[in-house]
Amino acid sequence: MDALLIEGPTKLHGTVRISGSKNTALPLLFSSLLFDTEVTFSNVPRLWDIETTLSLLNDMGASSQWNKEEGIVRIVPKIERRVASYEWVKKMRAGILALGPLVAKYGEAKVSLPGGCAIGARPVNFHLEALQKMGVTIQVEEGYIHAKVKNRVRGVELDFPQVTVTGTENLLMVAAMADGTTILRNAAKEPEVISLGEFLIKAGANIAGLGTSEITIIGSTLKAPKEPMEIPADRIETGTWMAIAVATRSRLRLEKCRPRELTSVIEVFEKMGVHFECDDARETMEIIPAEKYSPVDVITEPYPGFPTDMQAQLMICLSQAEGISHVCETIFENRFMHVDELTRLGAKIELDGNMAVIYGPQKLSGAPVMATDLRASACLVIAGLCAQGATKISRIYHLDRGYQRLEEKLRPLGAKIERFKE
Ligand code: EPU
Repeated sequence: MDALLIEGPTKLHGTVRISGSKNTALPLLFSSLLFDTEVTFSNVPRLWDIETTLSLLNDMGASSQWNKEEGIVRIVPKIERRVASYEWVKKMRAGILALGPLVAKYGEAKVSLPGGCAIGARPVNFHLEALQKMGVTIQVEEGYIHAKVKNRVRGVELDFPQVTVTGTENLLMVAAMADGTTILRNAAKEPEVISLGEFLIKAGANIAGLGTSEITIIGSTLKAPKEPMEIPADRIETGTWMAIAVATRSRLRLEKCRPRELTSVIEVFEKMGVHFECDDARETMEIIPAEKYSPVDVITEPYPGFPTDMQAQLMICLSQAEGISHVCETIFENRFMHVDELTRLGAKIELDGNMAVIYGPQKLSGAPVMATDLRASACLVIAGLCAQGATKISRIYHLDRGYQRLEEKLRPLGAKIERFKE
């Protein structure tokens, strides 16, 4: 298994180019199931989750080509098996995104239930209940969701009990091909949902209200767009680089990013004392750290609130602030697995239910640690860059699921970081 060895502390200098967004690319790749002819995507990030998605699509009969150097993916969705098997879905929960398009296009689907997850229970009941309201029969047997609809899926009014990102995406794809009008209430406003909606509109879908909590979709016939769809910048990778700059007190410039999608993250870092120079038109951000940081209290929320996917990376920054900070995690019940590992590096963090109390500033010292999930891995890399001495991070396959060669982006900036097999 691959591991990372980091020698800290390091001050970094330079410019980083942000890659395409994982959580935008995944629903877009699955949306290819809605079409009969080839679809093309550009700026696709080189990540394990993309590899898994393409393997899953190929397993169903699609043929995909991925030019990794150019970041271009072409998919010819000739689907023979309407099955997303456990083999792939267990590796990546986003496999549930096959369910909506398969049912909408072929009237049937057999999709493995995603299993447990390091960050919480993560059920898919909202996806299933919404599909049932649209006339889909759902049976769960032997670990698989069996979904069937007689004719076309029917447009209805739906109200999600809680904001769900992939739930909104699945239902958006179904509603785009449904018979009649669907209204999605309490819909997710995440930029990833907007990108999917915009792609469907290019394919002929009739969608209004993207980016708001009520999306109206009039079902229609879809046709694969001729133009390649460019995957926009990853806002969580952008936020992770912001945290790297803040925690290591390095002035960094980010290119090909979308600062406007990070307003809540910028606000929190500004409260700590960090300065930003953002240019949305040029897609750049300059991060200007401070010598001393103030503590802050943060609550994770659906977009446009502070993202749960940035909670771990923020926590390491707060361990360097002068005083006591609080982080309340409201999206996932078990997303504090990084805390025990950070404690091994010298951070002082107490947990009380879904609240973490972070006592700063603490001097960190290197130690062997274990990555538990994707964002926790990123947080440990940041901690390793701040800590005095050597930090070894095991199980970094989690990191490769969502960050395009993080160590190769860090090294030219001055980081002492090596990948090795253990
Ligand atoms: N929920 C239910 N039932 C459902 C769906 C969701 O109870 O049917 C609950 C979840 O358990 C959770 C909350 O609702 O407590 C929100 O979950 P959501 O469905 O929004 O999460 P997701 O769609 O499975 C996506 C991202 C996650 C990100 C969350 C929250 C993708 C592929 N994944 O997951 O990304 O944390 O939204 O923003 O888009 C990551 O990239 O590291 C990652 C975990």
